[in-house]
Amino acid sequence: MLAIIGGSGLTTLSNLDVSHREVVRTPFGEPSGAVVFGQICGQPAMFLPRHGYGHTIPPHMVNYRANLWALHHHKATGVISVASVGGIRGDLQPGDIVLPDQIIDYTWGRKSTFFDGVGGPVTHIDFTEPYDADLRREIRNAAALLGIKVKLDGVYAATQGPRLETAAEVNRLERDGADLVGMTGMPEAALARELGLPYAAINVVANHAAGRGSSSNGIHFESLEPVLQSAMGRVRAIIEKLVGCQNNCPPLGMSV
Ligand code: HPA
Repeated sequence: MLAIIGGSGLTTLSNLDVSHREVVRTPFGEPSGAVVFGQICGQPAMFLPRHGYGHTIPPHMVNYRANLWALHHHKATGVISVASVGGIRGDLQPGDIVLPDQIIDYTWGRKSTFFDGVGGPVTHIDFTEPYDADLRREIRNAAALLGIKVKLDGVYAATQGPRLETAAEVNRLERDGADLVGMTGMPEAALARELGLPYAAINVVANHAAGRGSSSNGIHFESLEPVLQSAMGRVRAIIEKLVGCQNNCPPLGMSV
């Protein structure tokens, strides 16, 4: 069963036909909320809002370990992470959907591993390719079936937040090779890998990164909200297609 972690702009999954919710107690504390179980087009899926149901948990306070542990505990077969980002690369416009293929981690002070030396051997996961190739392909195919444009590459810079970046910081991120900037991609991706959970991200560009384009005089999310919501509608459609086609793939064009 696929799990979807929703971020800003996707705090509920309206196309999930909910069967039940479950509060999971984990050895790492409380997840961001109850895991919601249901079906999308007849196929099972589970959903967890990263920032909690009232969107009250800031990026640096999210209990990423509890979230991933809870999904693993419920036998998730993979995790799709949805998150909004700032666009650094010149071609990225608010509303664009990007499937990042690499990560640079600038976060600090977050509990970022399950292997913290308590009661187990030191373990170093391979993280050369942080996102799962098969899951990325499935997302890409679902989008293609719907005729929804997605950009297929991007280096995601994970910053600490909750404040946005300075213009100089964005310049530095660009020099480092980053194309997108967000606050929640790490340690989420690494923790999924530690648990052996295939993980891929769908990023929605909410704004030009600080100092760029329409953000050259500051970032004004309010004006970009309609663009973000419309893009999240497309993300929902992609997820619906992907999950609905998981096992008994309906004939092309037949699923809603
Ligand atoms: N920076 C960091 N995180 C973000 C941004 C940004 O510009 N936009 C949406 N999430």
